[in-house]
Amino acid sequence: MSPHDDRSEKEDDVISAPASSGDQPISSLLIIIAMQTEALPLVTKFQLVEDESSVFPKGVPWVRYHGKYKDMDISLVWPGKDLTLGVDSVGTISAAIVTYASIQALHPDLIINAGTAGGFKAKGASISDVFIASEVAFHDRRIPIPVFDLYGVGLRQAFHTPNLVNELSFKVGKLSTGDSLDMSQQDESAIIANDATVKDMEGAAVAYVAEMLKVPSIYIKAVTDIVDGDKPTAEEFLQNLMAVTAALDLAVTQAVDFINGKSLSEL
Ligand code: ADE
Repeated sequence: MSPHDDRSEKEDDVISAPASSGDQPISSLLIIIAMQTEALPLVTKFQLVEDESSVFPKGVPWVRYHGKYKDMDISLVWPGKDLTLGVDSVGTISAAIVTYASIQALHPDLIINAGTAGGFKAKGASISDVFIASEVAFHDRRIPIPVFDLYGVGLRQAFHTPNLVNELSFKVGKLSTGDSLDMSQQDESAIIANDATVKDMEGAAVAYVAEMLKVPSIYIKAVTDIVDGDKPTAEEFLQNLMAVTAALDLAVTQAVDFINGKSLSEL
């Protein structure tokens, strides 16, 4: 760990400012989605095209689709398939590095992290509900030492979008992130401590990077499985994935249409 003050001027330069201030219409939107199934319908909807020459380092599986939609440049970034196993690169590591690389390359005004999530019926979640996260935190980074415990939880506020929430009637809830689809008893205690309604595998990692690089970020999560229900999570997730993806993609489209022409302060 090197002290913060040791950073050189050159290193400071890599921290990007948003391309527009809070009063300008949002012109550059970055959508980060971990699963191909969730991403491709939006690529079609917004008529995005895959980059011919990647803005990312050679050899990485990350894919950027981009295009002009209404008044905005939209980039949709999908971390791609794991190079060894060929499955979607879900989870916090891929989410954090693609967020970092995308912000560095694209300087977005706003990030939307969209995806599916597990929901807690005890907190009012049902299958196909779409939530906007009010705040995000981790539930699987347990460091029981003062202050490191808070670092592990990594609580961050999502960008506040009261007008978007009211206009589109999304539910609002807290999002808890971890690297497992299932839930251990320790995870459950931490999720309850986080007061979360939805549980995903990327949100808090995106938030960590977005906050560090000072880019506002919002989280749109659609519920595929009820974590405190009686069905096995993986089974319920796979059973509902296609139908819930349709609800997610509709919600993201509505959110993007709402954002178009507005400044950050109007959201
Ligand atoms: N995405 C969809 N369902 C999930 C769950 N139960 N946990 C984490 N991420 C999910």
